[in-house]
Formats: sequence, structure tokens, C-alpha cells
Amino acid sequence: QKGNYDHYMQKEIHEQPESLTTTMRGRLIHGGSKVKGVLLGGLKDHLRTIRRSRRILFIGCGTSYHAGLATRALVEELSGVPVTMELASDLLDRRGPVYREDTAIFVSQSGETADTLEALEYAKSCGALCVGVTNTVGSAIARGTHCGVHINAGCEIGVASTKAYTSQIAAMTMMALALGEDTLSSCSRREAIIDDLINLPDKVREVLKLDNDMKELAKELMEEQSLLVFGRGYNYATALEGALKVKEVALMHSEGILAGEMKHGPLALVDENLPIIVVATRDATCIKQQSVIQQLQARKGRLIVMCTKGDANLMCPNGSYRFIEVPQLQDCLQPIINIVPFQLLAYHLTVLRGFNVDQPRNLAKSVTIS
Ligand code: F6R
Repeated sequence: QKGNYDHYMQKEIHEQPESLTTTMRGRLIHGGSKVKGVLLGGLKDHLRTIRRSRRILFIGCGTSYHAGLATRALVEELSGVPVTMELASDLLDRRGPVYREDTAIFVSQSGETADTLEALEYAKSCGALCVGVTNTVGSAIARGTHCGVHINAGCEIGVASTKAYTSQIAAMTMMALALGEDTLSSCSRREAIIDDLINLPDKVREVLKLDNDMKELAKELMEEQSLLVFGRGYNYATALEGALKVKEVALMHSEGILAGEMKHGPLALVDENLPIIVVATRDATCIKQQSVIQQLQARKGRLIVMCTKGDANLMCPNGSYRFIEVPQLQDCLQPIINIVPFQLLAYHLTVLRGFNVDQPRNLAKSVTIS
């Protein structure tokens, strides 16, 4: 089943061009020679209600929460509805207010996560419209929600989620496009995103070529105690998810940090030893990331800069310890590209450190007890 690969996680990372293709298959509508819009069968009768909701809540745990975070800004931009992020366990601990006028979107690869499922029962009891985004047809969350989207990423066996994460972002991006389709002013933006969705599998193929570079980086980092990852905007999710991958499989402490918070504490950790990855690909926030890089350099930070191909000198004129150069897509799709080198890095770190890649210590694929 693993084919030519040594581990399921490795196979699933390299399968992403195909899993993303499957996620999009039959969902992009052609109008003349061009793809014009998206069709999500499980959502189409509910789009009007969602557009009219007072608020959208994204609810999930771990990686699935990060996928929601990666698409939050686009859903807000194209629907005009504010989006609140909720970790399922925290929503339940607080019994946070949920209203009949809310749309609650439950993101779960397995569709069986206990906290997410309990949050679904809670939101239903409050009268919210409940939408599922799952990878498992017939799962408890798929069955219990009023409507939803299957991400169709295919079976994921490695405990660390990889291809399900990128497919969740692709599926929720299509959901944002569907929510925005009644708005004329966003037409060219939506068309540009659709064009890049079509390019996505090829761009992922391109970024997978960084495999050897990530193995080399893993060799350099394998003895480290800790790794920080700074991101912002669309790539705050990349920072959190990249750090989660490294911590859960390579058993190395790693922390994803919102770069805008750097001066409010994390800066104190910076010295010439602690490796720091800064995600600074081209988008509306990259000027701010340039200034973060300068401040980290001024403190002699050991920087690894992830930037758009060809931007290394621009983003970091004084050089860095290492660059990870990735292809460019529309800003909202960039998290799908940017997570891939982190997945590869986490994989190689784990193999080099001698840990179990597919079954990390103390973790289960599906957390069915809260
Ligand atoms: C990490 C990972 C977990 C899951 C989380 C929720 O790689 O896979 O953080 O994302 O346990 O699981 P699902 O998505 O099945 O609800």
C-alpha cells in the first residue's frame, strides 16, 4: 500500500497534487472556454442562508482548526460575513454564545473527533445552521450537520494530517468562492483564484522538488531543542500548522507565532542559536515581514526565510542562514504551497531522529474521547 515510499506520511505528502485534483474534480464550472465558478452540490441550497447569517464560526481541533484559520480572511472578504475561530474544546468549556442567525462550520478530517462532535450538538441546540467539512462520507459529523462539503482527499493513514489539510483549504476556498458568487465587484478576484486553483496541482508538484533541500535542512536541525516559526496574514495558519507537524512527529519543541506579536514577548528568545523560520512569501503583509526579518537580524537571529522564488535578496538583503524559495499563487492559496516544505522537514527530522513517523508517541488518528 505504501508503494515506493517508506512511510504513509511520506506517501501522503507526495500524493498532494492528485488529492487536490480529486478535491476539485467536477466542482469547477466551465462557462465558454473559461472556468467561471464553483459548484458544491452539498451547499448550493444553503448559500443564501449562509450569506445572510450574522456570523460564521469555524469550529475544529488541531490541523483542522488551522485549515479554517487559513481560509478565514477569504471567507470574510468574499461573503462580507465576519468569521470567528473556535477551538471545539474551548467553545465547549466556555459554552460560548451561538445564535440562530449564526452559521457554524465544523471542520474535521475524520468526522469523528469527540470535541468537534460535541460542539456540533451544542450549536444545533442553539439553533445555528451547521455545515460539515469532512473527509469521511457517513461519519458522525457528516451525518449530523445540515449540509456540507466532502473534501475527497482519499484515505489518510499517517497520524499526522498532510493531504487532508491541503484539501480542506482547497475545499473551503471553493466554499468562499461560492459564497461570493452573487457579488459583481469581486468577479475578477474570484476568476484569478479559480485560475490558480487549476494551476495548484502543478505548483504543488514544483514545491515537492524541495524534498532534498528539506532533508539537508533537517540534517542541520536534527539536534536542536526548539524551532520557532513566524507567520502572519494567510500564513499565520502556516506557522501554527508547520510548528504542529514538527512537534507531533519529530518530537521537537516548535512554536508557531503570529509575527505581529513578536515584540510582545517572543523577541526575548532570539539569539544566534535558536533556529527561526520566517514565512515571508509575497502578499499584502510581506513588507511587514521584511521589517520582522530586519529586526531578527539585528538580534543575530538564526534565520531561515521562506519567500517567493526570486525574492531572496529583496526580502532579506543581508542574507540568511538559509532560504526556502517557493512558487507564487494568489495570496489565499499560498498556505497550500507553503505548508509542503514544513511537511517534508517534519518528515525528514523524524526519520533522522529515529522516531515513528506514522504513529507518533501518545497520539491517535482519531480522537474519539474528549
Ligand atoms: C495533526 C492532526 C490533528 C487533527 C485533530 C482533529 O496532524 O491530525 O491535530 O487535525 O485531531 O482531527 P479531525 O480533523 O479528524 O477532526
